[in-house]
Amino acid sequence: MPTRLLLVDPDFDEAARVIALLHRTEIESYVIEHAHGFDDAEALIEENDFDAVLLDLATPVGRGATVLKKLISLAANIPIIVLTQTEDENAGAMAVQAGAQDFLVKSRINGDVLRRVIRYSIDRVRYRQDVDGLAREIAHRKRIADALSDSQNRMMSINDSLFEGVLVFDENGHIALSNRAADRLLSAEEKLPSRDLDAVLRLVLDEHAVAFKAGPFRQVIRDGVGIQDEDALFVRRDGKPIAVAYACVPLLEKDGVQGAILSFRDIGAFKQAQRDALQASKLASVGQLAAGIAHEINTPIQYIGDNLRFLSNAFQSIVGLLKRSEQLLSGIDGEQAEQARSALERAREQADAEYLLENIPEAARQSLEGAGQVARIVLAMKEFSHPGERAKAEVDINRSVENTLAVSRNEWKQWATLEIKLEETLPRVNCLGGEINQVLLNLVINAAHAIEEAGRGADGKIQVATRRLDEDRIEISIEDNGVGMTEAVIEQIFDPFFTTKKIGKGTGQGLSICRDVIVAKHGGRISVHSTPGVGTRFSVILPIGEAEEETPKGDNL
Ligand SMILES: Nc1ncnc2c1ncn2[C@@H]1O[C@H](COP(=O)(O)OP(=O)(O)OP(=O)(O)O)[C@@H](O)[C@H]1O
Ligand SMILES: [Mg+2]
Repeated sequence: MPTRLLLVDPDFDEAARVIALLHRTEIESYVIEHAHGFDDAEALIEENDFDAVLLDLATPVGRGATVLKKLISLAANIPIIVLTQTEDENAGAMAVQAGAQDFLVKSRINGDVLRRVIRYSIDRVRYRQDVDGLAREIAHRKRIADALSDSQNRMMSINDSLFEGVLVFDENGHIALSNRAADRLLSAEEKLPSRDLDAVLRLVLDEHAVAFKAGPFRQVIRDGVGIQDEDALFVRRDGKPIAVAYACVPLLEKDGVQGAILSFRDIGAFKQAQRDALQASKLASVGQLAAGIAHEINTPIQYIGDNLRFLSNAFQSIVGLLKRSEQLLSGIDGEQAEQARSALERAREQADAEYLLENIPEAARQSLEGAGQVARIVLAMKEFSHPGERAKAEVDINRSVENTLAVSRNEWKQWATLEIKLEETLPRVNCLGGEINQVLLNLVINAAHAIEEAGRGADGKIQVATRRLDEDRIEISIEDNGVGMTEAVIEQIFDPFFTTKKIGKGTGQGLSICRDVIVAKHGGRISVHSTPGVGTRFSVILPIGEAEEETPKGDNL
């Protein structure tokens, strides 16, 4: 490509000389336009794309400088090389200061010098332009990067301030992003990103924790369709289940669905409240029903007992009467008397009188005992059920234990014998009697189940004891010689829904409710010691509360 030059020189001869010099160089070729003055130059610059301008500063002195200024403002990016007369060397230096790329003294130039100066000037300007362009590009990119980083920081802080946990993962289940809430809900110590979703959480479907590949989150990425569930269960990597509400939506980027965003909320507290409400209403209605039935049975059992006592006494009187008649009859002589005696003897035999006399009192005694037991159970039921009770009151815990054991007899009698050691001087405890009864019931039934599972036969034993622990607290302990538990099981027994029992036998809520009642509602403690194959001891510690003041100090220690 030839170099395109504009030569501005008012002197035709001089111009022709310069042009000839340039055309003579063999290294480069030139297309040269000649302008006589600034006006011609302006017109030519508008029409052409020059690589450089050669400007003669010669005559008259001063005008050349003005033309230079004008040319610079007209074409800032075209290098201008100033040509001066011998005596104008100073003017050349000033021209360079004013913005020309270089200057040459006309009388001293030859083709090669001219060519080199033109080439360097062009290259210098291009280089400077490149550098300027690069600097501008860098500045521009930096501005974009800053804006991007600002917006990313903003997104991150919004993300981190969210109440809901957020996880972004790709089609392989690899986590790309997690927020603080997700870290907190899913793992205690570590940041989640750069882990696999499977290592962090699994969704529970039909009681099975499903892997990412087989689960619905992968499906969301495949189908590009979001899903949500208001009542779901995740299992954390430490095995802890968490009740959640979640939404999972596809992550759309310019190349299609690249992953999914999972947002979720812990609804454990809400579920607990729901369970409590359900339990309370169940307790209330069962209690009401039990109290009603107990009341209904109470009246007939009273008069059955009264009547049995009456019949038993009456029978004694009749036996006395019979014996007296026989005595009188035996004292009379004569044939008629003899006949009457043998008739009586036959009648006695026919009536199996010996047997009746011997067994009727026993039957009456047993019936009375049975009626007494029914009456006791009815009373226990009435006391146990506490229908509708809402506020704490002073409760005789020993009585609660006895009532609980009485109403649950059917659950344990087949598997175990009972050993009860109740401290007689136990102070009354300020508590929710009905709920404490439920706790005791759960513990006794668990003990019976554990013994049943161990198959102890006649050796099954449940020991229930109460004692004053110290000034402020009492302890109720329930010990069994059932199957016992491993450490791994013990760690989970207070979790809602944890059960090792068959469907229908256990729902896994018993101990979680116990803990809620003892710890949350009474500020007490429930703890367990267990040895697999040997047995288990549950200890419930309750603060005596306000009842304390009424108990003389030191009495029960
Ligand atoms: N005395 C015990 N001996 C051995 N294991 C026990 C004992 N008590 C509780 N467990 C274990 O703890 C688990 C949880 O007990 P929890 O009472 O919470 O639920 P559940 O008895 O299974 O069901 P639910 O009480 O709701 O009917 C039981 O499934 C059992 O594995
Ligand atoms: Mg239970």
